[in-house]
Amino acid sequence: MSLAALFTSLFVVGHLTVSATTQIPFQAITDAQRSHLVNSPVDATGDSQFYEFKWPIRKVAIIGAGVRWVTGVRREVGALIDAVECSGLLAYRELIDAGFEKVKIFERDAVPGGNWHYTDELPLEAPIPNLDPKIADYEPSLPSPDSALPFEVWYADHNDSITTAERWRRHRAPHAVWKSLTSNVPAPHMHFNGHDWPPGTPWNLPHALLTRYLRGVYSFYGINSNDKSANVTYSTRVELVEKRIDAEGIEQGWQLTLKKFIRLGPSSSKEVWWTEDFDAVVIATGTFNAPNIPNIPGLAEWKHKFPGSILHSREYRYPEKFANQSLLVVGAGTSATGISADLNLFVKRNYLSLRRSANSTTPTAFLNLLPQGVDIVVGIERFHPSNATIELSDGTLLADIDHILFSTGYQYTFPFLPQYHNSSIGLDEEGPEDRPQPLVTDGSHYRSLYREFIYIEEPTLAFMNMNLGAVTWTFGEYFAVAIAKIWSGTARLPNQAEMWKSYRERVAASGGYGKKVLYLPSTGGGMSGYIAFFMGWLNSAAYEFGGKTIDGLNKDFFEQLWVFQIAFFANPNPVRIPESNHSEGFIAASTEQPSPVEFLDYLTSGY
Ligand SMILES: Cc1cc2nc3c(=O)[nH]c(=O)nc-3n(C[C@H](O)[C@H](O)[C@H](O)COP(=O)(O)OP(=O)(O)OC[C@H]3O[C@@H](n4cnc5c(N)ncnc54)[C@H](O)[C@@H]3O)c2cc1C
Ligand SMILES: NC(=O)c1ccc[n+]([C@@H]2O[C@H](COP(=O)([O-])OP(=O)(O)OC[C@H]3O[C@@H](n4cnc5c(N)ncnc54)[C@H](OP(=O)(O)O)[C@@H]3O)[C@@H](O)[C@H]2O)c1
Repeated sequence: MSLAALFTSLFVVGHLTVSATTQIPFQAITDAQRSHLVNSPVDATGDSQFYEFKWPIRKVAIIGAGVRWVTGVRREVGALIDAVECSGLLAYRELIDAGFEKVKIFERDAVPGGNWHYTDELPLEAPIPNLDPKIADYEPSLPSPDSALPFEVWYADHNDSITTAERWRRHRAPHAVWKSLTSNVPAPHMHFNGHDWPPGTPWNLPHALLTRYLRGVYSFYGINSNDKSANVTYSTRVELVEKRIDAEGIEQGWQLTLKKFIRLGPSSSKEVWWTEDFDAVVIATGTFNAPNIPNIPGLAEWKHKFPGSILHSREYRYPEKFANQSLLVVGAGTSATGISADLNLFVKRNYLSLRRSANSTTPTAFLNLLPQGVDIVVGIERFHPSNATIELSDGTLLADIDHILFSTGYQYTFPFLPQYHNSSIGLDEEGPEDRPQPLVTDGSHYRSLYREFIYIEEPTLAFMNMNLGAVTWTFGEYFAVAIAKIWSGTARLPNQAEMWKSYRERVAASGGYGKKVLYLPSTGGGMSGYIAFFMGWLNSAAYEFGGKTIDGLNKDFFEQLWVFQIAFFANPNPVRIPESNHSEGFIAASTEQPSPVEFLDYLTSGY
């Protein structure tokens, strides 16, 4: 794929014109005013054209204090996408401003920042074979049903099966960022409105800078971990989200079962379980929590025979650990190519195994990132632990490999919503009709979301940025604005039949289920069509019910992104790709690309 095509597949949204900021006088909606949602126009069947919520929405929970949930819900909506920000902080503020009685964030880590919180501490070893997606991140930990809540368990290392440090590691789950990682989206597109990066900030942001920046903005809004805000609780993992049934047996929102980890000393801790009730829940838990390792013959036996030799990319931190060893990195995405490049100066042999799945969505230009020294080989056929060789699909046997580093992506999982997982459904099958359609089946993709964010079966569950291939911090803006408007009654959702229709058209346009459904199809205008849709929907709602309007993308957005991507992928001396991979679409880097020197100058000159 050429760089231009790569850019198109990742980022092209079309040049939408930027209009002036518009703020229509806005008042928090009351329950009485919500009546317009009940007395809405009817369609030919006599049903409402619009979805009618089963209960009033006053209290909202947000799961995850990362980045994306923060995006989007901003007061100065005119600048909405112009600055391409990233703030759940603003989503949080918007939900409060929209008149919700309670908005509360639950975050399993001790600090905000999500994916960007780097630690030397590693996540748990990836299971082989993959666990069922329902428990691929963690298995919910619950007190016995007859326990009085809040329920506490105290631990001390001297009489516990695991240490305090290990208990905390399991609770919070360290993230996938490695030490030298920089952003692959330019700084001007990773910032909060009103909190500009200082002049001279590099466009490829070191993760430490991004983390400090994020924490600063969380502090600004008073919801950092040292702010003692009642609206956020850190070190708290959401274990379960279940329907709440009132005394008359009627559904009335959601009950969250929560578990907080409290360190009492260097070798002692306690965990506390309790429940809280909400009317609606924003799920902003990110998409990179559960590793995916392909099921290759002989792999489980290899792991058993050579413990510690198999890693997933989320367990990678720095190359020194692998000095003078031979590594085989598997995959062709950003993790595989980024880690191979990072390892290159340190390791004895640096292999990268490349194979393309039938429905691959990986842009081939990531391979441009590889420096000379990386030896690209074809896909793996089988592991032979008996003689410690790895057989490739062209018959080659690799020997003396110290570590295999699977950079093969992640599984979709929402462990706190087990009722909406069903791994017994085949890739192209729908779930049984007498049960809610699932959110997750085989873990390769999500399902049943209207416009990628509203769970059609239960529209009081909303998801932030579950799709891929879009500039995620940007797209989150639209979701967050829409969630606040829909739940506050200042925008309307189509009825469920219409939402299913739109969803099924979207799946068909993607060519069916699987990883490809995570990417917006080019039919219907792709991301450009999506943005136009959100603008039309939310802006006409603003004129009807009051509230804020949103704008399209600033023209500079594309220019900046384009320049950045060219610099990011520039490599005048790309590595050779085996001919057998050419038929899979993997070819050597384009020679058409503009001078890398020119663009690298641009890249580092600040803005
Ligand atoms: C290695 C790597 C590099 C990346 N580089 C870039 C980049 O350069 N540019 C870019 O734009 N994007 C990049 N991304 C994508 C990245 O995921 C987004 O930038 C961004 O972090 C997504 O924000 P989020 O809030 O959706 O998810 P996250 O940042 O993952 O935050 C989710 C939060 O939810 C919390 N959580 C999860 N489950 C629970 C639970 N049950 N209870 C309570 N809390 C929970 C987590 O602890 C976490 O804090 C990268 C991703 C990876 C893995
Ligand atoms: N800032 C940065 O520089 C940076 C660094 C790392 C990650 N990230 C972000 O993190 C996210 C996740 O990226 P990721 O690279 O971890 O996951 P990914 O994008 O899902 O890529 C997984 C790769 O593994 C390949 N694969 C799967 N099974 C395989 C097998 N059996 N043999 C060989 N290859 C196999 C896939 O190929 P197919 O497509 O053919 O299945 C794909 O190339 C992305 O959003 C990325 O942008 C950013």
